[in-house]
Amino acid sequence: MTDILTLEGDAGRFAVQVFATPHEAETAVLNLIGDAVATAITADDRAVICGAGGSTPKPVYERLHTLDLAWDKVTLTQVDERFVPVDDPSSNTRMMREAVADIEGLNFLSLVQDTDQALSAEKAETALRALNDGDAPVFDITLLGMGGDKHYASIFPQHPLNASIYETKTLVLPVAATDGTLEPKLPRLTLSVNALNRSRRIVLYITGKAKLEALQKAIANPDKDSAPIGAFLRQYTHLVDIIWVA
Ligand code: 6PG
Repeated sequence: MTDILTLEGDAGRFAVQVFATPHEAETAVLNLIGDAVATAITADDRAVICGAGGSTPKPVYERLHTLDLAWDKVTLTQVDERFVPVDDPSSNTRMMREAVADIEGLNFLSLVQDTDQALSAEKAETALRALNDGDAPVFDITLLGMGGDKHYASIFPQHPLNASIYETKTLVLPVAATDGTLEPKLPRLTLSVNALNRSRRIVLYITGKAKLEALQKAIANPDKDSAPIGAFLRQYTHLVDIIWVA
């Protein structure tokens, strides 16, 4: 039996599914992914999973192979990426590629498509559009993470990107590294709000008390500059599953 916590504030009211262990939480995330992908393949004969980087989702990617799916009809792409060589230890592409290496037929689409950051974003957008016959892609399920600073994807507090991130129609954006104490320390590529809103379903998977408290504050006061995840959740209109383990 899973406990349910409710977080409520200006961003709305959200149920948080509480799990006793990381393994159980990962299994819940995998089940949501499996259901969304199976439904998409039945309906459209194809499916697109959009996955966050960082450490939290890694065990989920490593267990994806346990799902009995027509993987040759599935694309796994990225919510965001550090703009570093794809064999760099901090690369999400490296982490995700290694995690799913044994899944026969799965198409992995990295946001890193060029050695130039701006070109990489443009080419990644073109590649994403090619998944949907040139139209903006639809993500059948998006796995989001969150930083303790209330960032998600590569959309960080107090970053200049926040001034346009809700208006831009561009799907993939280059994100400049900051030179001070603020994040990100590395240049990044990120899906825009417009792109992420094309997720049929979002799973926000977070761990630890500090992130739960940060999420609670972001939902209470969803300012796009100081609490990016709260501002995003306030305007996202489809189903959100929040999975949490202490
Ligand atoms: C990244 C992610 C980022 C991540 C959060 C949480 O590239 O770092 O895209 O948005 O989801 O920073 O990261 P952890 O799961 O490592 O805490």
